[in-house]
Amino acid sequence: MSLLLTNVRPYGEGEPVDVAIAGGEILAIGAGLTPAEGAEVIDGGGNVLLPGFVDLHTHLREPGREDTETIESGSAAAALGGYTAVFAMANTSPVADSAVVTDHVYRRGQEVGLVDVHPVGAVTVGLQGEKLAEMGMMAAGPGRVRVFSDDGVCVSDPLLMRRALEYSASLGVVIAQHAEEPRLTKGAVAHEGPEAARLGLAGWPRAAEEAIVARDALLARDAGARVHICHASTAGTVELLKWAKEQGIAITAEVTPHHLLLDDSRLQTYDAVNRVNPPLREASDVAALRKALRDGVIDCVATDHAPHAEQDKCCEFAAARPGMLGLETALAIVAQVSVETGDLGWRDVARVMSEKPAQIARLDDQGRPIGVGEPANLTLVDPDLGWTVRADELASRSRNTPFAELSFRAKPVLTVLRGRVTARDGVAAQPETGARA
Ligand code: DOR
Ligand code: ZN
Repeated sequence: MSLLLTNVRPYGEGEPVDVAIAGGEILAIGAGLTPAEGAEVIDGGGNVLLPGFVDLHTHLREPGREDTETIESGSAAAALGGYTAVFAMANTSPVADSAVVTDHVYRRGQEVGLVDVHPVGAVTVGLQGEKLAEMGMMAAGPGRVRVFSDDGVCVSDPLLMRRALEYSASLGVVIAQHAEEPRLTKGAVAHEGPEAARLGLAGWPRAAEEAIVARDALLARDAGARVHICHASTAGTVELLKWAKEQGIAITAEVTPHHLLLDDSRLQTYDAVNRVNPPLREASDVAALRKALRDGVIDCVATDHAPHAEQDKCCEFAAARPGMLGLETALAIVAQVSVETGDLGWRDVARVMSEKPAQIARLDDQGRPIGVGEPANLTLVDPDLGWTVRADELASRSRNTPFAELSFRAKPVLTVLRGRVTARDGVAAQPETGARA
């Protein structure tokens, strides 16, 4: 199957060119290319061509909560969001703490074929924080687990975290930490500050995150291991990351689109769609996170796409589950807070949404330059489409988006995985095989 994308601007730079794709690779890039016999030709409308996005932090809920998301529905959401690879977090039911589960998630993702679904393996058995999971078995299986995380909860026991880091170094994998000292966040539902105090919501202090970031930087240093900080949310975390990187510690970090766009003033309505872990912080934190992304102190954007059922979100704030949808809105938000403000260019967007996450997870076929001979994992972004998020039009099985009815300019309009179109003009392709109702 071959494809000719005409009239596209790689990284949004220079005059439009054509990109010829065959055998899952980029065959040629240039002006006025002639389509190969039988090739599908797609007019790119002068839009911005980027490497396909890679999400290090997605919750797909399969196995266990298929009422809220499946590998199939989450894959469609990812393709529509411009993603060609996602990392599915381990807090499923059963937990992805064995190769049986991680290999299943990988295989199911390949069957669906809309995005590469890479399973994240749990660090501890059942996410219980007591005993290390069989990391080596998960890394060796067909699912080739490269990222381990107990996300949803923190690996809070320092001795266990130290052992996990030591193992991870010998396996060549990375531990992604949900940095939350649980003793400091018991009962907490919102950022600890004037807003939560006024609203009578129990507060989650910044120090709960920062204490773990500092601790794990030191543990990673001593273990000669790599640690990745999930959903960095405070200005203090940014300072600690800067310090740790200056020491030569192998620490990386992600920020979510919601922490780049929203702050705790959103809580005034008590709408639980705004409940998330870590919580929405203050405007000063948002500013520090945006700057850190620009400066490279925070390496990448990850969605923390966290689908939840209506009954778990449309309820009292303190009773709601934390989490918000992210895959289908991430690019629009990143463009709004960085490209449209002049903070970042499209080449930087390629770095923070594709190249860096692929490097952190050591994927060799994603986050590659747009060049001849490279894998055809690509996303075409219309920077000026103009669109409004409608919760009931999302491909996700859940509706918990805090961005409903917000308008954005940029949107992915075409996604290509190994030369196959997986989403186009807001419609995901049919799954490859094994589709389920
Ligand atoms: O808000 C969150 N939701 N944060 C997490 O760490 C877990 C996630 C989930 O699984 O719903
Ligand atoms: Zn988390």
